[in-house]
Amino acid sequence: MRGFDPATASDDDFAALKNGVYEHKILILKGQALAPSAFVEMGRRMGRVEAYYEPMYHHPEEPDIFVSSNVSDGDKQIGVPKTGKFWHADYQFMPKPFGLTLIYPQVIPAKNRGTYYIDMTQAYQRLPEDLKREIAGTRTLFSVRRYFKIRPSDVYRPLGELTEEVERKTPTVAHPTLFKHPVTGATVLYNSEGFTVGMEDADGNRLDDSLMQRVFEETGQHDSSFSGPGIHLVTPEQGDLLIWDNRALIHRALHTSTPEPTVSFRVTVHDDFPFHDDQPL
Ligand SMILES: [Fe+2]
Repeated sequence: MRGFDPATASDDDFAALKNGVYEHKILILKGQALAPSAFVEMGRRMGRVEAYYEPMYHHPEEPDIFVSSNVSDGDKQIGVPKTGKFWHADYQFMPKPFGLTLIYPQVIPAKNRGTYYIDMTQAYQRLPEDLKREIAGTRTLFSVRRYFKIRPSDVYRPLGELTEEVERKTPTVAHPTLFKHPVTGATVLYNSEGFTVGMEDADGNRLDDSLMQRVFEETGQHDSSFSGPGIHLVTPEQGDLLIWDNRALIHRALHTSTPEPTVSFRVTVHDDFPFHDDQPL
């Protein structure tokens, strides 16, 4: 999408932009040149911005920006390197995930760059009928524990103490495995290999882990070639700003395997709708 200028866009323009994101799942705004403060301001025009819960990811001047970066400023690391290299939706492990993710790449490596996406509304449609029946009415459990990143202040801390802190600050949460998207009405299959840690039936009884493994398999999350149906790679160019529907899509960063610098800014936004109505389908 070309010609969208957040500085001059009206409220109607922003409403149309959001509708476009829900309709297409992801939009790329071309030719953007925004200062960090203007990027945050753009997020505020789209909903309620929420800063990441772990401060080590924050931009030094704009804490509402999450920084993914392998670049140091002198001896000071800004942001966190190699984030999100696993299938996930942002904040899926929190009680209230956000509806929209904005990514604004700053330094783009020449090789092995981009992000893979799977549309989980389409992935649901592709599931075998017996699996659709088996997961109907269930809840899926999510935790950050497998991908929580050790902070500089954690050095010399006992691992048990750290895992206790992670469980206390971000206890496992349950979301409906299937819910109705509040805008499009599509059925969202809410699951990701990175953050899903189990499933339970409508009465809260734990289901065998083979069920979630089958969901990973059937949705393409175990496809190490990333060539299966439903996996899409987006490779941004300088000036691109990506906005996606964080209910419908799961994503996975493709990090450069070479020592090239890479820096990306992210702003995350709660939109005008409840994330889901908490009614499992
Ligand atoms: Fe992410």
